[in-house]
Amino acid sequence: AENGYELWLRYKLVSKGEFYTSYCLKNRKVMFPGETESLIAAKKELQAGLSGLLNIPYTEEETLEDNMLIVGTPQSVPLFKEQAFHAEINGLSDEGYLILNCTIKGKKTTAIVARTDIGVLYGVFHYLRLIQTNQSLDKLHIKENPKLKYRVLNHWDNLNGTVERGYAGYSIWNWERLPSYKEQRYTDYARANASIGINGTVLNNVNAQAKSLRTDWLVKASGLADVFRPYGIKVYLTAKFSAPKEIGGLNTADPKDPQVRKWWKDKVEEIYSLIPDFGGFLVKANSEGQPGPQDYGCSHADGANMLAEALKPYGGIVFWRAFVYQNERHVDRVINGYNEFKPLDGEFAENVFVQPKNGPIDFQPREPFHPLFGGMPYTPLSLEFQITQENLGHAGHLVYLGTLFEEVLQSDTYENGKGSTVSKVLQNYQKTHGISAIAGVPNIGTDLNWTGHLFGQANWYAFGRLAWNPDTSSGKIAEDWARMTFSNDKSVLSLVLKIMMMSRETYVNYTMPLGLNHIMNYDTHNGPEPWHDDPVWTAFDYHKITKDSIGVNRTAKGTGATRQYHNPVGEMFDDIKQCPQEYLLWFHRVPWNYKMASGRNLWDELVYHYYKGVDEVRQIQTIWNELDGKIDRERFEHVASLLKYQEQEAIWWRDGCLLFFQEYSRLPIPANLEQPK
Ligand code: GCU
Repeated sequence: AENGYELWLRYKLVSKGEFYTSYCLKNRKVMFPGETESLIAAKKELQAGLSGLLNIPYTEEETLEDNMLIVGTPQSVPLFKEQAFHAEINGLSDEGYLILNCTIKGKKTTAIVARTDIGVLYGVFHYLRLIQTNQSLDKLHIKENPKLKYRVLNHWDNLNGTVERGYAGYSIWNWERLPSYKEQRYTDYARANASIGINGTVLNNVNAQAKSLRTDWLVKASGLADVFRPYGIKVYLTAKFSAPKEIGGLNTADPKDPQVRKWWKDKVEEIYSLIPDFGGFLVKANSEGQPGPQDYGCSHADGANMLAEALKPYGGIVFWRAFVYQNERHVDRVINGYNEFKPLDGEFAENVFVQPKNGPIDFQPREPFHPLFGGMPYTPLSLEFQITQENLGHAGHLVYLGTLFEEVLQSDTYENGKGSTVSKVLQNYQKTHGISAIAGVPNIGTDLNWTGHLFGQANWYAFGRLAWNPDTSSGKIAEDWARMTFSNDKSVLSLVLKIMMMSRETYVNYTMPLGLNHIMNYDTHNGPEPWHDDPVWTAFDYHKITKDSIGVNRTAKGTGATRQYHNPVGEMFDDIKQCPQEYLLWFHRVPWNYKMASGRNLWDELVYHYYKGVDEVRQIQTIWNELDGKIDRERFEHVASLLKYQEQEAIWWRDGCLLFFQEYSRLPIPANLEQPK
């Protein structure tokens, strides 16, 4: 059944199969020696891939012959050592690979080569992708090294099986049956992640429970680590700062206390005895009620460094989140993270990443990039994206996030002059001891298709591809995904891609255009609630609507958020005339009659965007309907029915927001919403 379980690893007979068999793949034999777990995993994948995609038998041969596919490392295939490309192999990183057509001892071959077994596995996935996406196999000379070193999923999975803000069912970790019962799904999860280069996974929620570090739970986690290891995926855990108190029998978690420090050292030693390749800890501290070093008058750096010290002998890493804000109405939430962390630049141990979210509030449909990118030159930074659509329609709305990720990664911070994009900041190894990282909060759950919405898979996929190379274009990634997920047929592709590439802007239009943010339902984060008001924390803090104006003054004369950016970015945001329209109400407080670039006044412009958003959802429905009969029934119906739901939701957003705003603006919905001349 086409329920989406296979994700993008659908090894169905590929269109243009004959195109490949004419490349002599038909009688191609494979030389693939090696008995390590990772090489066996790679071989299984190659076997399943080639026989499925091309409907040809997979035959292995030990002696070199013409037209062979040779796969391995110089250890598993000593032949590689004598080749001209041997120097190139030595130039690969631990996870890199080469795919090349070459002549070995007079025989024409294709080689998939790496220095490590994991590199071989990655190379095999890439080779299969070439076929899945109908690329030429002529003149292959592909050299790939990942641009970022730690490419990590951050599951927000609770130990009771629920997922924080999870919209695709429950957690896929069946803790009760672990470690002995290992579901097939764990292996498929590892395959999918390895196919896009993800090499780490934090198993549990940042809103942590201390018991995840208790011996019985560590043993369970080790069961997952065993499944993931052959696929190059390391297991990480969140560490609750109060664990020494909660499960360690101490009466404090004070980082200054030698007993506390010893507790963490012993705990880490125990973890490594069970999970020898344990990745490290992810920590949410002094944020939204979580305990942390500030409870003891210590800084984030003091807390992080204590854990780093314990992990260091084993090569473990700390990801210390920068998602902090004072829960007080008079303090602008946007400026908190920078203000708390910027002064600590340079104070973190060498195996600590500070991890800000992509933007300074909280995974909104659109935010300017977080000013800590460019603001902490001496600290390795890990960027946290949200793949799960907490504020982007949950799993019910079709929103391709590749474009959002790209927009953030390509934003120029001007840290070292023009061209210092967020992507470059992440890759700036000079001052950060050669480590780099990116994290994504996944949308993975127990739904048959993993992500709830079929198109949610594209967001998982896009995150992985961008983690491998943050400068890949979101359009190229969308195309690869669509080819692998649906078809190489041009008429299918052009429709699917049109939808994907417009979908995020469409979502912004019908929910939070022009820099509006955080006006979603207070509890569920789904649907509109710009009218939410309560004594502590309210949507009114985010839009500050009055009968005259809307938006928040975050300029130098306002809360000063614009001053956290390097110039000319800061100046651009600060000046209402230069500020990109999509961030207008984020940085500025704007009167309803303000004249926009379009010639409309602000009110009309806002109305225009909300109406446009709904219209675009209808366009997406029309485009999708053209796929009727061109793709399988099940997936067609699945998306078609979700699009109907999305249309209703878009109308709800539009009408809910505009009716509320209108109570203040007292202006009519203009009759003609077309672009004025
Ligand atoms: C958001 C989200 C929470 C989450 C938090 C975090 O506020 O709604 O559920 O715990 O982010 O990232 O820590």
